Amino acid sequence: MARLKTAVLISGRGTNLQALIGACAEPSFPAEICLVVSNRPDAVGLRRAIEAGIATHVVDHKKFADRRSFEVALDGALREARVEFICSAGFMRVLTEWFVERWRDRQINIHPSLLPVFPGLDTHARALAAGVRLAGCTAHFVRTEVDAGPIIVQAAVRVLPADDEETLAARVLAAEHKIYPLALRLIAEGRVEVVDERVRIDGAAEAQGMLLSPAES
Ligand code: GRF
Repeated sequence: MARLKTAVLISGRGTNLQALIGACAEPSFPAEICLVVSNRPDAVGLRRAIEAGIATHVVDHKKFADRRSFEVALDGALREARVEFICSAGFMRVLTEWFVERWRDRQINIHPSLLPVFPGLDTHARALAAGVRLAGCTAHFVRTEVDAGPIIVQAAVRVLPADDEETLAARVLAAEHKIYPLALRLIAEGRVEVVDERVRIDGAAEAQGMLLSPAES
């Protein structure tokens, strides 16, 4: 079966990109990364793509007069590479309705919180300040509202008493690296459907039981 031709949009270090590259390196994985696009020429993630032999493209937002012309250039690069699907992975540009609608249900994002709580920036600081005992991450379809859209996969991560932003972020990031390739795989296998803005997954294995924090003793 043909693999889903996927582009990854980045702005920075690209560890989620790396996780996707790793997953796609498996011959049986149903998606392939055919292009990595960054809005920043200095994004470390670009090097990860080059090392993996993946085509890269920079659409530097600073070189465009407005959001629309930036998005037209981005869309053009994706279409030229015959991209079928987009994974945003630490891509730090807010996309307008024009772009989001062109790629509706063909673009996903990864966010380091259990959405719909803590959208936006500084999620870990806000989770710690709120005293939540479970944090986590979410892979979701992209909509015009930032960090919102039908949820595909989530992972919950325990917040530990000694956690600071850095330790919590690291534990959540490890979970991101698991769920993002999983979300892409489920979609590329054709098992994901958006119905009334909720995701249905065909034949998803249900993990059983509660995740307690603190654990019972
Ligand atoms: C991740 O925490 C992701 O959830 C958020 O931005 C961060 C990107 O990290 N959207 P990386 O560039 O994938 O390492």
